[in-house]
Amino acid sequence: MFPFKTSIQFDRKSNQALYLQLSNQIIQLIKSQKLAPNTRLPGSRTLAEQLHVHRKTIVACYDELLLQGWIESIPKKGTYVHRNLPVLHQQKLKDDEVFGVNNNADFSFYKSSILPKIPTEKREDFMYLNDGISDTRLTPIDEIARTYRNVSSKKMIYEHLSYGSTYGNGTLRNVLVEYLNSTRGLNITKENVLITRGSQMGIWLSAKLLLQKEDVIVVGNTNYVSADFTFLNQQVKLERVSVDKNGLVTDDIEKLCKRHQIKAVYVTSHHHHPTTVTLSAKRRIHLLNLAQHYNFAIIEDDYDYDFNYNHAPILPLASHDTNGNVIYIGSVCKTVAPVFRVGYLIASKDFVDEAAKLRGYVDRQGDALLELTFASFIKSGDLDRHIRKVMKIHQQRRDLFCKLLNDELGGFFQFETPIGGMAVWIKLHPDYSWDTISEAARKHRLEIGDWRQYDAAKLGHNSIRIGFATYNEEEIYELIKRLKHAITSTL
Ligand SMILES: Cc1ncc(COP(=O)(O)O)c(C=O)c1O
Repeated sequence: MFPFKTSIQFDRKSNQALYLQLSNQIIQLIKSQKLAPNTRLPGSRTLAEQLHVHRKTIVACYDELLLQGWIESIPKKGTYVHRNLPVLHQQKLKDDEVFGVNNNADFSFYKSSILPKIPTEKREDFMYLNDGISDTRLTPIDEIARTYRNVSSKKMIYEHLSYGSTYGNGTLRNVLVEYLNSTRGLNITKENVLITRGSQMGIWLSAKLLLQKEDVIVVGNTNYVSADFTFLNQQVKLERVSVDKNGLVTDDIEKLCKRHQIKAVYVTSHHHHPTTVTLSAKRRIHLLNLAQHYNFAIIEDDYDYDFNYNHAPILPLASHDTNGNVIYIGSVCKTVAPVFRVGYLIASKDFVDEAAKLRGYVDRQGDALLELTFASFIKSGDLDRHIRKVMKIHQQRRDLFCKLLNDELGGFFQFETPIGGMAVWIKLHPDYSWDTISEAARKHRLEIGDWRQYDAAKLGHNSIRIGFATYNEEEIYELIKRLKHAITSTL
């Protein structure tokens, strides 16, 4: 008889019922062939006595195993391990592997050789440079939580808890129509709005709908690196044009149009990513005219529209587009906090319809409760109040950061104080290298990050983008101190 008494162990502190603990252990014994097919199992009374449990536990366990097909009950004979069970070929796991989380899949799958992994791990004692993100300590989390609670306690909420529109929540779409028409000078209706989970989803959807293998998309010779990869993942030809103090050089785009059929131009017109420059009015008009003439799409990524320190925000290209050339993309992720994955893609109705359809197959729908929360947050004026509040703080941080950069590190860097956004574009003196400095910085608990991402075109400009908005005054002093120590230690 199989030694159940020594093979089965119960954890009486566990939340798992005893009959399930027993059935799981019997399954393991069957899988490991310690209990072979056709083995007779003891009667419920006998096994209950052996294991010191109630007979009902054994009956429930056998019922469970019968239901799952591991055992069979043969009338007048007894209960047996199912005679037709095939042998499960299990690989012996290495010591550090836990069952079910083997490190290597036993099937082939496609790994992208284009998309790099997005780094997420952080050490607590380190300071990390970023390319311009907000300080989450300034997030109006209480107001948002209160709004979320109010929204969720309404009677009509139940309809929003089910499957909904792939276009996003209707209330938010309506609120955005009003908000974007009045703040961005757009002239849209609800039909032109698709709610996304942040700008990145808008870029991805646009790439999927506009681009296929060998298609040409134009970007700056410095460009937002995630957009580059999103396009490259479509196996496109990325044509890079120069960026100067007036933004993308549209004359270069015109020259390209004469040579190739261009499907799209990606532009961060408000504050070019990474250099922070603004696309001039002349070039805006030129680009719109080119788009109309050569029938290409302009993907306008207005990722940090809200933060302008010396002037009113500049209206996007989308506000001048009457021909349906512009796909306008934005989100609350920079303005409020990256965790709130609420963004929008604004375009002609036919494009929005197709994007909504596609979105439904990667992410069935957005988070309707969060979308309703933001609808209310925007409509009540809370978003604008938040923007006004943080803008003052950002401006002070920008001023301090740029002052210290100048006072403490002026001999090493060249930069313009940005008129908007949350980052500075900093050129390191050609005698020094970011490679050496970032290695030295690590010794001072400062992570500079992948500085090469800013020079995908290998121009050798020796510049990187450093965000200032995330750090308070004390942290800005600390950051500059660490950077200075790092640089001077390399001399
Ligand atoms: C230029 C630019 N576009 C888009 C994004 C993505 O933003 P979101 O968090 O809204 O997806 C970022 C984020 O860093 C960005 O810098």
